[in-house]
Amino acid sequence: MQDQVKTIREQALAACRQAETVQELNEARVKFLGKKGELTLILRKTGQLPKEERPQFGKLVNEVRDELELVWDQREEELSRAEEERRLLAESLDTTLPGRTVARGTVHPVSRIIAETKRIFMQMGYQVVEGPEVEWDYYNFEALNIPPDHPARDMQDTFFITEKLLLRSQTSPVQIHTMERQQPPIRIVAPGKVYRADSDVTHSPMFHQIEGLVVDEGITLADLKGTLQLFVQRMFGPDVKIRLRPSYFPFTEPSAEVDVSCIICSGTGCRVCKDTGWLEILGSGMVHPQVLKQVGYDPGKVSGFAFGMGIERIAMLKYGINDIRLLFENDVRFLEQFTS
Ligand code: FA5
Ligand code: MG
Repeated sequence: MQDQVKTIREQALAACRQAETVQELNEARVKFLGKKGELTLILRKTGQLPKEERPQFGKLVNEVRDELELVWDQREEELSRAEEERRLLAESLDTTLPGRTVARGTVHPVSRIIAETKRIFMQMGYQVVEGPEVEWDYYNFEALNIPPDHPARDMQDTFFITEKLLLRSQTSPVQIHTMERQQPPIRIVAPGKVYRADSDVTHSPMFHQIEGLVVDEGITLADLKGTLQLFVQRMFGPDVKIRLRPSYFPFTEPSAEVDVSCIICSGTGCRVCKDTGWLEILGSGMVHPQVLKQVGYDPGKVSGFAFGMGIERIAMLKYGINDIRLLFENDVRFLEQFTS
């Protein structure tokens, strides 16, 4: 029986060594040291021994049990530490990997120019107002001194909804709404969408304008020129040149179109400026006395100037965009370049 105990001890030690996980080790512990384990079972056989050998046998079994318990505890500690390390290693983060960035949108160039233009004019004391995109013929044309069948209607190829209702072809109707609502002095800018049956590298069927209107006593053409010069310098920088070209609008007299020296080709000629070195950004003039009368103002007492500029044209010049359609294709590779 003593030999049997020795064999159990050796088998137990071997099992302990071979166990590779805490679970395997626990299973082996039950097998050898448990209530129904091999060592317990052999202890129960003590009665089969001669009386005088029993105490010694009992002592041997207990010594082996103590030894095995100790070895088991040590091994368990070793294995659980190793398991913990493996777990930590498997879960660890590689802090050298590049992070996943959150995709951030950018402000559309048209929105940027609108915001910048509003800011420049607000600094000069202008108020920002808005008007409807679906407009009465009266506000878009008639009140602006363009009666039905007037040839000037051909200048703006208009989308009609009914005979009297249309998609506004310009922001100028906001002039009328504003003057109907309030008395001079008036100093407003009105940004918004306008629509024309028009499409090429510098024309889009939907585009944006900002209207400007100043009405007060003693307003002159010099005020208009100075205001626009200051605006262009603030928008494009002090070196950019402007050119006032005599023009015609039924609601202003005299009228001028304002060109900016082409930033894309520095004035040498390209497809955007149609080889002229200049790009038209706005129409302007002194408010026609007929328009002032129409809203109940006295043209003998007050005068004013007005302008309407194309936002997309300004964006093209400022950012060197050579095709207006790029602004409306919503190609992220194009849009994400406008980050600052
Ligand atoms: C007008 O629309 C007048 N209402 C401007 C005005 C206001 C004159 C107040 C006098 C007093 P015009 O049709 O030229 O004018 O357009 C003004 C600007 O809009 C142009 O200078 C140009 O920059 C821009 N523009 C015109 N058509 C288009 C288009 N299809 N696509 C993009 N921009 C355009
Ligand atoms: Mg024009």
